[in-house]
Amino acid sequence: MAAEFLTRGWKVVGTIQGSARTELHNLADEHPGRIEIESLDVTEPDQIAALRDRLSGRSFDILFHNAGIANANPHESVAEVSTEEFVRVMVTNALSPMRVIEGLQDLVPADGLIGIMSSGQGSIGNNAKGRNDIYRGSKAALNQFMRCYAARHAEEPRALVLMAPGWIRTAMGGPDAPFSVEEAIPKVVDVLLSQQGNPGLRYLDREGHTVPW
Ligand SMILES: NC(=O)c1ccc[n+]([C@@H]2O[C@H](COP(=O)([O-])OP(=O)(O)OC[C@H]3O[C@@H](n4cnc5c(N)ncnc54)[C@H](OP(=O)(O)O)[C@@H]3O)[C@@H](O)[C@H]2O)c1
Repeated sequence: MAAEFLTRGWKVVGTIQGSARTELHNLADEHPGRIEIESLDVTEPDQIAALRDRLSGRSFDILFHNAGIANANPHESVAEVSTEEFVRVMVTNALSPMRVIEGLQDLVPADGLIGIMSSGQGSIGNNAKGRNDIYRGSKAALNQFMRCYAARHAEEPRALVLMAPGWIRTAMGGPDAPFSVEEAIPKVVDVLLSQQGNPGLRYLDREGHTVPW
């Protein structure tokens, strides 16, 4: 997503976990002065507050939270998963994005956009097959928390987006996923840009279609 925004003329502040060199560093070297890299473990509230302090005085047209995880054994049902693994996924996928949004929201102007990478698997209405209980539950909880956020901020003109990008060949999506990052991400970015200036919360797929809650 950082690379795609760069090709469209944007400047990006991207976060990574820890201090190891990443693809984002390569991108920053290729585009001097257009990417800043910050460190953030989204599950650590102190790190969110510290990032907020470091970014003080800045303004972001789009704040987008991408980080998320799947549970180690996707075949485990909610009856089988350990409490520790359940908590790890829920904290990372449902609680932490909301803390990031709440912590950084005042860096986004009134006509800006706040987005979170959700998943089609967060849809309760579309869940006819089951499976991936823990991941589905975490993204459904995220969607619900974002609806609470939207209701709390109903008077504000910001655009709010929960994105369902489709099944993509990433480390999480695996090699069997039908779509590459190169196919999917330009569409994801198109949808985000199309929502700028459109107040209120939407749950959208990468074609811009509404996903049933
Ligand atoms: N791939 C799909 O088919 C698919 C479909 C629907 C939704 N999504 C969602 O898309 C988002 C990106 O997933 P992906 O497919 O690109 O998976 P991925 O390749 O596993 O990437 C996940 C990213 O999240 C970061 N992350 C995880 N925990 C973090 C934490 N505590 N603090 C900061 N960063 C953290 C990871 O950082 P490290 O590399 O340092 O671990 C990694 O950069 C997720 O929210 C996922 O749920 C993916």
